[in-house]
Amino acid sequence: MLLACGIAEQNVNVTPACPCLRGWLDGWWVFIYEKGYQSTDTAISSVFTKMKGVGYTNIKGSERVWDVADYVFPPQGDSSFVVMTNYIITEGQKMGKCPELDGKHNCSSNADCEGGSFKRTGHGQMTGVCLNTTKTCEVLAWCPIEDDVMIPDPPMLMSAENYTLFIKNSVTFPTFGVSRSNLVENIDNSYINKCLYDPTHAPLCPIFRLGDIVKLSGFKFETIARVGGAIGIVVDWTCNLDVDIKHCKPKYTFHGLYGNAAETDQARASVGYNFRYAKHYMEDKEQKRTLLKVFGIRFDIIVQSLARKFDIIPTLTAIGSGVGIFGVATVVCDLVLLYLLPKREFYKNMKFKYTDSHVQDPDSEACSTETEVCKK
Ligand SMILES: *[C@@H]1O[C@H](CO)[C@@H](O)[C@H](O)[C@H]1NC(C)=O
Repeated sequence: MLLACGIAEQNVNVTPACPCLRGWLDGWWVFIYEKGYQSTDTAISSVFTKMKGVGYTNIKGSERVWDVADYVFPPQGDSSFVVMTNYIITEGQKMGKCPELDGKHNCSSNADCEGGSFKRTGHGQMTGVCLNTTKTCEVLAWCPIEDDVMIPDPPMLMSAENYTLFIKNSVTFPTFGVSRSNLVENIDNSYINKCLYDPTHAPLCPIFRLGDIVKLSGFKFETIARVGGAIGIVVDWTCNLDVDIKHCKPKYTFHGLYGNAAETDQARASVGYNFRYAKHYMEDKEQKRTLLKVFGIRFDIIVQSLARKFDIIPTLTAIGSGVGIFGVATVVCDLVLLYLLPKREFYKNMKFKYTDSHVQDPDSEACSTETEVCKK
């Protein structure tokens, strides 16, 4: 068939690629490039993380050190966690009545503050009193009310740039019974103690500097540290298990999960990432709390995996479908040769042998009477 098409192309000067050739190439494409001779499996994975580093703040002479227990939420070492980089702290809040923030619910008389009702974006329940001093409604709430209008700039914990993240990840491909860890061969204790991830010089080191992660994801650390953000760390396991297992290694990539690094802050509706966190305590038999509005970088560690291994079933299937494509190619080739090409009459003559139908009908009545025609 291939041969026939080759001749067709030479004689008739058709430029479009011959369908036969396509069929043949498609078959090999499935087989070689799409690895039709291997079966695939995705992994069951587990991730463990650990942060290291200490931050320092000095607010009007009051020094403070922030360690891992202070700035990582939640503390368990999940694959998704937040590192605090900036905060607004409101200390000594207790239940009571106090004025709402300026701009939240302004009033001119008590009639503007309906007692017992709530404002969705407010901080508490209105008491029905309009306070003359602030010109805002009085509310029953955690007082004093947090004022979060000004986000500290530069970020309080700029030192987070130098914190490090350690990722432990293990993957299991159940179909093939293969388990791997990102602490692959050559990554021993002494190496881990001194290495720092670098895309070219130390691509297998499982310890990442936060500043590097943010930079590799395309963002500026200072911006993301001030208002918060989310970054995905993708651990990619694409393994060919037909070669030595030591070639099955993780590959790390970093992506900003929302917002575009090139976009300006003002262009977006909801900028950054933050949440509130309160620590409750008792003082003078009274319940109090310290409220933190936490701005931070949220890290999501996403494991992607695909392992391949030789398998006789997909091999036979691929060969079978390849043969099937040959069959289709033959039909398409014939259609082109017989009906579309300018020299189609020539091919019709070559393909079909025309026989005289009269000769092959010995039982017909005509034969017994007109013998001369029959004999011919
Ligand atoms: C991070 O560490 C480097 C080198 O130790 C230092 O020069 C830099 O000031 C540190 N960055 C911050 C924000 O503390």
